[in-house]
Amino acid sequence: MSRAELRAVGLVRRYGGLTAVDHVDMSAPPGMITGLVGPNGAGKSTLFSLLTGVEQPDEGSVLLGGRDITRLPPDRRSRLGLVQTFQVPSLFTSMTVRDNLLVGVENRRRDYAAGLFGIGVRPNGRHEAIVDDMLSSLGLTELADVTAGQLPTGALRLVECARALCAQPDVLLLDEPASGLDAEETERFSQLLRRIADSGVGIVLVDHDVDLVFTVCDQVYAMVGGRVVAHGDPASVRADPTVQSVYLAKGSVA
Ligand SMILES: Nc1ncnc2c1ncn2[C@@H]1O[C@H](COP(=O)(O)OP(=O)(O)O)[C@@H](O)[C@H]1O
Ligand SMILES: [Mg+2]
Repeated sequence: MSRAELRAVGLVRRYGGLTAVDHVDMSAPPGMITGLVGPNGAGKSTLFSLLTGVEQPDEGSVLLGGRDITRLPPDRRSRLGLVQTFQVPSLFTSMTVRDNLLVGVENRRRDYAAGLFGIGVRPNGRHEAIVDDMLSSLGLTELADVTAGQLPTGALRLVECARALCAQPDVLLLDEPASGLDAEETERFSQLLRRIADSGVGIVLVDHDVDLVFTVCDQVYAMVGGRVVAHGDPASVRADPTVQSVYLAKGSVA
C-alpha cells in the first residue's frame, strides 16, 4: 500500500502588507526527506504552519494524497496521516515514555473508528504491541518506564519522534528536530530519519543546521522573501547562485 504525498499548490500567506509565503508550490513524496532552507524571515516557519494547519493560506491549497485538506485544523490533519513534531517537545512530562507512545497510537486509531477517508489504513494490532515494537526498533526499550519529564534533550527528541511514528503517519513534519542535540546525537537522529523515510514515510524537515539539511535530505527547497528560489537535490541547491549569494551575505541558509 502506498502512502500519501503532501503537496502545496500556489500557497500565499500575507501579514498586512508583507507576503510571508508568496505562491509556493512544493511536494513531499513518500519515502523522501524534503528540506526547507532560507535565511531568517524567508517564510519557512509560515510555510510549515500552512502545511500543519496552524495557519490558513490567503490563496492556494494543501493536498494530502490528492485530497484537499487546506481548511482542516491540525488535529484532523494528523488523524489523516500528516503528523508533526514540535520545536519544543510536546510530550506529557508526568507520563512514562510508554504511555506517551500509547497516546500517539490512539491519536491515529480514533480516525479508524470514525472510518475517515481510508488513507493509510494499517492492520489492527494491540496498541501495546505497536508501542513495544516501536521502542525496541528505536533502541528505547530501557526508557519505557521512565517519566518523560526526566529525559535529557537527545532522548526527548527520539521519544517525540517515536510517538509521532506510533500514529503511523504518511508524512512527518519536523520543525527544528535537531536543536539541542550534540554532534553524535544529530548523527544518530539523521540515521533515524533515513530509516523512517526508507519505510515509506515522507518527511519535511526545517532546521537551522544547514549541514544536517543538506546531508540528510533527498531534495531541498530554498526560500528567500517568501518565494522558492531554488529546488532540487542538495548539491544543486547548494550550488545555486541565488542561494550562494544569500548564504554569503547572511552567513546562513537555514
Ligand atoms: N504572525 C505574524 N505576523 C506578522 N508578520 C509575521 C508573522 N509571522 C511571520 N511574519 C513575518 O513573515 C516573514 C516570514 O517569517 P517566518 O515564516 O517566520 O520566516 P522564517 O521561519 O524563514 O525565519 C517575516 O518577515 C516575519 O516577520
Ligand atoms: Mg522560522
